[in-house]
Order: sequence, then C-alpha cells, then structure tokens
Amino acid sequence: MRIDVDSERIVAELDTLAHFSDTEPPAVTRIVYSEADQRARAWLKELCLAAGLAVREDAIGNLFARWQGSDASAGAVGTGSHIDAIPHSGRYDGTVGVIGGLEALRALRRSDFTPRKSIELLAFISEEPTRFGIGCLGSRMLCGNLTAESAGLLTDRESRPLEAVRKAAGFTGGLASVILPAQYYSSFVELHIEQGPILEQERIPLGVVTSIAAPAALRILIEGEGGHAGAVLMPKRRDAFLGAAEIALAVETGALGTGAVDTVGTCGLVEVFPGLANSIPSRVRLELDVRDTDVARRDSVLQNIAQACQDVAARRKLQITSTTLNADAPATCGPAVVAALEDACRADGITYRGMVSRAYHDSLFMSRIAPTAMLFIPCKGGVSHRPDEYAAPEDLANGARVLARTLAALAS
Ligand code: GLV
Ligand code: MN
Ligand code: MN
Repeated sequence: MRIDVDSERIVAELDTLAHFSDTEPPAVTRIVYSEADQRARAWLKELCLAAGLAVREDAIGNLFARWQGSDASAGAVGTGSHIDAIPHSGRYDGTVGVIGGLEALRALRRSDFTPRKSIELLAFISEEPTRFGIGCLGSRMLCGNLTAESAGLLTDRESRPLEAVRKAAGFTGGLASVILPAQYYSSFVELHIEQGPILEQERIPLGVVTSIAAPAALRILIEGEGGHAGAVLMPKRRDAFLGAAEIALAVETGALGTGAVDTVGTCGLVEVFPGLANSIPSRVRLELDVRDTDVARRDSVLQNIAQACQDVAARRKLQITSTTLNADAPATCGPAVVAALEDACRADGITYRGMVSRAYHDSLFMSRIAPTAMLFIPCKGGVSHRPDEYAAPEDLANGARVLARTLAALAS
C-alpha cells in the first residue's frame, strides 16, 4: 500500500502548536488546563474534525478522535500522545505523537484503505506531572491505575483541587466515567521522539520500543527551625535546607550505587521557606524522581533514600516526612504490536533497532489494558525537556508513515 504523509504540514502544525505557550519561543510552556493548553486543545479539535474524525472528550479531558471501522464490535486501535509541555521545554515531546498520529490517520484516509477496526487518536491529558505532581494522569485513569476517588484528592501546586480546576476548564462529568470498558482497545501504539542520543549516534532512523522503564516520584517535606542568619550560632541550628541537601546527595549516591547505567535519580524540585539569604531555612519541599529498567533495583534506591531520611532526621533533629507520589511497574511491549512496527519498517525499507524507553509515556499505562508498543524517531543531540529540542522533517515523516502502515495492519 502506498502511504503519502505530508511532512510540511506536520512541521507547520507543530509550529502552530508551539505558539500556544506561556513562554517566548523557542521555549514552550503549556501546563494542563491553562489558557494556552485550552487554546491548543480547541485548535487540535478543529484539526481532528476537519480530518473527518468523530471527536469526544472524557471527564478528565482526554481527547479522542475516531475513524469508525466497519466492525463495530472489534476493539479499536489507539494511537496518540500528549500536548501538555513542562515549563521551558521544547515543541516535540508528546506533540509528535499527536500531530504525527493525526497525519498518519489523514494519510490512510487519503489512501484506498478502509479500517475494519476503528482507529482512534488520543491526546492524553496531563502526561507531565508539572501541575498535579503525578505524571500520566489521563492514561492512569483510563486504565484504572488511578481511581476516581484518588484523583479527586489531587491538588495543584497552588493547592487548588483538581476537581475545581478541571470543572473550570469545562470537564464536568463524574471522574468514575473515565475508566475504559474492557477490550476498548485491541492495541495501542505511540509515536514519540527518542529523548536520548542512540538513534542519532547510530544513524538509525527509527526505534521500536520493547520496554519502558519503571518510574517513581517522592515528595519529601523537611521541617527544622528558622531564625536569624547572623544571630543563631551554628551548633544551635536545625537548618532544613542542609538536611535536604544531604537527601539530594543520597539520591545521587543511591542511583550511582547500583552500578547499573539504567538507574537514574534526580532531585529536580527544591522549595526553601522562607527563601531569604539572611534567614535560616525552616522548611523545604523536595520532589525526587528515580527510575530504572529493573523495578527491584529501583526500589532498592527508594529504600536507601528512606534510610537517608531517617538518618538525617535523627542527626540534624529535623522532622522529615516522605510521600510516594507514584512507584510504577515497568512495561513490556506487546509482541504483536512490536512485530507490526517492525514489519512496517521493513515494508518502507527503513532501518530500525529495538530500544528501551527510559522516559515514561502514556504507553506505560496503555500497556496495562492493551498490547502496546512505541515508535521512536531521533531528536537532535538526544536533547529533550529543553527549548532546543529538535526533530528533523524527514524523521517526522518516517515516523508518521511507519505509524500509518502499522495502524493499517493492526486495524485490518
Ligand atoms: C516524561 O516526560 C518523563 O519525565 O519521562
Ligand atoms: Mn516530557
Ligand atoms: Mn512525552
């Protein structure tokens, strides 16, 4: 089957999408339910409608655009990714899977293909943890990993309840309705930039993902005693930031200590109260991210961090409380979807290699309810979550075309 994707259109649409942002180009900031996010979503809905797809949104804000297949009883083939973007990031993370997925559907609709199974494009809500502290909010709820009750307890960084925020954004239905019926999808496949350097370094145009690493995130509150930076002598201090600094170093020591390259630990959020040079920190909030391809090894790092919290609390006379925001299992991709991707690469004469995804994706959760795999395209220098993120037009086109061929095979 001949499949023609329009790479200029993909590039132009990614460019338009990048301008729905709360920071100046090239940086992109699109926090879930923000005005920029809402405007981007309205624009995307128009694109999906213009492509002849049936659009619906669920109560949390996942967006579905469906090409109805001839067999209404068969589970749909899903594809898609996310359009929210962390502060000061780039234009390709997630968006490539949504715009590339849409172009894959448009290309198939332009061809003589008619699907037996429905093909559905998804834009998942809040893949990034920026606002509510937990990543993959939409896909977690779709697959039942996060219940309506637990989601109902979430608050954003300004302590606004998710319930109020989503309703203000126009998503007013009951959260219990978000979970998908069993067998809703027969398979799922997500196109994404690699977010790592391997494809570029090895000059291989496509990566077929066979597993996704296990992510975990912790929020740690450290309470000590504030005071005057000149008047309180060093032996008398209970400085919350110094405790936090030791815990941050324990994250690094723990990740390095496994001896495995696949273990990574990051302490990316530090809030110091009251946050003044001449005032001893009385309170600190840390948020940590620990990941590994091996869940037992990841959990051993979490245990080391818990131990470090206890030691630091005792030695520095601090109160330290740790909350697990998430500690997810890794995903193994569905062999049939991996094979469909590999067949599509071969049919297009494109070289590919198998890969592990060290970043997490909505596919981590979609794999809980349907055979799932991912297709990676190279990104310049392996850079992601930065304004200089870049994917070349020919790689975008390869990704969309192989995705289209894969969707066609899965939906036949
Ligand atoms: C997703 O953005 C991740 O942090 O892996
Ligand atoms: Mn991301
Ligand atoms: Mn992403």
